[in-house]
Amino acid sequence: MRHILAPLVLVPLLLSFSPKSFYGVKSDAVPLQQCKSPLAQDASPPSPVNLWASLTTSETSSIQAWLGAPERQLNLTPAAESTLSDNTIFLIESYYPSKADALAHLSSPNTVSPPDRFARVTIHHGGDSEPSIKDYLVGPLPISEQTTMAPLTDIYRRDLPYNARGFISIVNELGAVFQQFTPELVAAIEDLFNATFQGGVNDTLTAGGGGPFSFDGSFRRVWVFWKRLVPGSWLHPISFFNYFDISGTDPSQWRLLKIVYNNQLFNSSDDFLHAYRNGTLERPTVSDPSDASWSSRKRVGSVRDLDDLPGPRSVSFAGLRFRVDRDRQYVSWMGWGMYLGFDRDMGLSLWDIRFKDERLIYQLAPQEAVTQYSGTDPMQTTSAYLDRFFGMGSDVRDLLPGYDCPQESVYLPATTYTPLGSVTVEKAICIFEQDTGKPITRHMGDPQESGAIKGYVLVFDYTFHFDGTIEVRVSASGYLQGGYWQPQNDAYGCKIHNVSMGTVHDHIMNFKVDLDIAGQENSLLETTTAQEEITLPWFDDDWGQTVVQQKITRKFISNESDVLLMYPPNFQGHYSIVNQDAKNAWENPRGYVLHPGASPIHNTVVGSKRLLENANWARYNLAVSRRKDTEPSSSTMWNANLPGSPAVNFHDFFDGESLVQEDLVMWINVGMHHLPTAEDSPNTKTNIATSSFLLTPLNYFDYDVTMESKNAILLTTTPEQQGGAYGFDDFGVNQSFNCIPEAPPPFEYSPSATFD
Ligand SMILES: *[C@@H]1O[C@H](CO)[C@@H](O)[C@H](O)[C@H]1NC(C)=O
Ligand SMILES: *[C@@H]1O[C@H](CO)[C@@H](O)[C@H](O)[C@H]1NC(C)=O
Ligand SMILES: *[C@@H]1O[C@H](CO)[C@@H](O)[C@H](O)[C@H]1NC(C)=O
Ligand SMILES: *[C@@H]1O[C@H](CO)[C@@H](O)[C@H](O)[C@H]1NC(C)=O
Ligand SMILES: *[C@@H]1O[C@H](CO)[C@@H](O)[C@H](O)[C@H]1NC(C)=O
Ligand SMILES: *[C@@H]1O[C@H](CO)[C@@H](O)[C@H](O)[C@H]1NC(C)=O
Ligand SMILES: *[C@@H]1O[C@H](CO)[C@@H](O)[C@H](O)[C@H]1NC(C)=O
Repeated sequence: MRHILAPLVLVPLLLSFSPKSFYGVKSDAVPLQQCKSPLAQDASPPSPVNLWASLTTSETSSIQAWLGAPERQLNLTPAAESTLSDNTIFLIESYYPSKADALAHLSSPNTVSPPDRFARVTIHHGGDSEPSIKDYLVGPLPISEQTTMAPLTDIYRRDLPYNARGFISIVNELGAVFQQFTPELVAAIEDLFNATFQGGVNDTLTAGGGGPFSFDGSFRRVWVFWKRLVPGSWLHPISFFNYFDISGTDPSQWRLLKIVYNNQLFNSSDDFLHAYRNGTLERPTVSDPSDASWSSRKRVGSVRDLDDLPGPRSVSFAGLRFRVDRDRQYVSWMGWGMYLGFDRDMGLSLWDIRFKDERLIYQLAPQEAVTQYSGTDPMQTTSAYLDRFFGMGSDVRDLLPGYDCPQESVYLPATTYTPLGSVTVEKAICIFEQDTGKPITRHMGDPQESGAIKGYVLVFDYTFHFDGTIEVRVSASGYLQGGYWQPQNDAYGCKIHNVSMGTVHDHIMNFKVDLDIAGQENSLLETTTAQEEITLPWFDDDWGQTVVQQKITRKFISNESDVLLMYPPNFQGHYSIVNQDAKNAWENPRGYVLHPGASPIHNTVVGSKRLLENANWARYNLAVSRRKDTEPSSSTMWNANLPGSPAVNFHDFFDGESLVQEDLVMWINVGMHHLPTAEDSPNTKTNIATSSFLLTPLNYFDYDVTMESKNAILLTTTPEQQGGAYGFDDFGVNQSFNCIPEAPPPFEYSPSATFD
């Protein structure tokens, strides 16, 4: 299966001034001291409680024990011992309070107590006569006499069929699939591909599975594909595919339905083996499995000039200029402040983002990431992944210090629940000021893969600017889901090695931005520009009687049925959220405007059955809806396997309500049309695989608030006035801090994940 690793980089930075030279040491200088260790200063969150904090491991343990008590009558089996026909806990996670309750507390943290804490619990009811997945609300917490559990149904539009479930253990579930491989079939595979596949340490082949597994939950079926077990195995697919029925709870009923070998279809392993024996198989070119170094990340080529020296790194000579409350997961910098949340499905989210003492965003959170492939083989043609299913938060691994994030970063931990235990990753999030600090490619993997990652690495950047702008950027790196190269695949990608290709695919990722401009009463403003021809009395005969120029049109979109939006052609105009009742000094409604950044795309393919209704957000650049506690997200983890009947259908949010002075949410997409090239081998690069958007003040202030910065220079007099040099004002900031920076600690990387 695909492993999705999602290191999250929180980057409050971008006061882009250049500090003065630190390098000249004056002759009368006092001896330099060692710089202080880069520790963030203490922060003062608006409330002492992070309302969106993950559950602690002791909270999840106590909930687990409470659920297992006989009076709950859930008949639970611990996940590690469970089979598919047992009732098992899949997830225990913090359930966010209603916005009204949260705001009531935040507006008076000293007098209004925080809302009760609740957990959301997902249970696989494999033991029921009609197996299903159910979500429950458990609380209030901590567990007491008052704690109850109730089905959590108001955020889903339908029941959750068992065939759409997440994995308790991929190995256990797909392991049963391989029971279908008879010794004769294995021997044929080994012969045809010059490989070993005995299920042991000497295997030179491995298998993976594509998705979705189901259309509407009535079945669970998977295309299994094969690749060579070498570093960068994703770039070594072989032309062999098996389609399995893995429906229901009884693995003894699972069946191999199809084999595709080098574009030849067989309806059973008997048919395939018959053709193998009678010599009618058309054999493909088989790659030499002994040389796979090209797909590893081992350095190649001669050393470039001076590349044996380390590059520059930034040093905060005067100490770090941001504040972090590690326990409450709260960060502040230069007028910005925000709480962090972290969940299994999508990882990092930001809450109650304030700028200059005003709440600007209630919630900023990734929602879903879709990747849809094309090609001619059973794997590429059927792959349409929704990564939320795999758990982009629970798959987060430690960031590589000094490589994923610059040397001075402050790291924060994240804890997620998995059925086999809670996992705490110590370096899940990094925070740093002013440094681009992004590796052009990066990679982390199992030791035997020499640093190979399966699937894509996503790096989420949230960048906060001094002017009130927030930039959200997603960059991807890692291995392609490679295809087997044959000339007929030319229209679906590009040959990248003897028998390997990269296939064309789209990545689209959706973000929820719950903007609150001066409160919750906001409107959606569409601004467009267009050409006009105008005649005015003073035009003269030299140039004719008309002028051709552009003109702005501003229009409020008032109806929630007109808000599935594309950026205007040629980006002539923009969309913004404004508060019509809050005006700046110049009588303009205060607002924030959405600016598309890099690669502001939407999905190319519409109408594919494998993505029919489960990722409808991906069809647009953005959408705006009324905010509701019952519409917390544009997707769910189960949407991945329910394209025909999704748990959440994004289109259902748009039911014709008024958008005038209401609490609004923007659903904004970033993405990439990925047409792979040889330079995607071994890994895709973050410099082009990147997409972003910006939210910028729109008459929110009366002027540019960066003018408040003391880290600025103003020329005040001319050389003529001052005899040779310009006079200047540097606003009294002492730029002369100097100290000896610590050498970076030796690189060290040990898994910090702790299991509970
Ligand atoms: C794996 O290969 C090595 C070297 O050929 C051999 O010594 C060992 O017995 C093999 N292990 C298994 C489990 O087949
Ligand atoms: C496989 O089965 C399908 C449907 O039963 C049939 O149409 C097709 O001809 C069969 N293909 C082969 C290669 O046996
Ligand atoms: C070889 O086996 C395949 C699969 O059963 C069959 O379709 C084909 O007719 C056989 N050909 C010969 C020459 O026996
Ligand atoms: C790729 O093809 C070339 C030319 O046919 C051959 O020399 C080389 O060994 C092949 N490499 C691999 C890894 O199969
Ligand atoms: C089979 O693989 C081995 C290495 O595993 C290689 O030495 C041999 O040449 C390969 N045979 C063929 C026919 O490619
Ligand atoms: C929005 O438009 C729909 C369809 O035209 C209409 O039924 C609905 O009443 C409108 N809503 C408002 C608030 O005007
Ligand atoms: C600026 O800071 C440095 C380092 O702390 C100090 O030595 C120097 O005296 C300061 N300069 C002024 C003008 O305060």
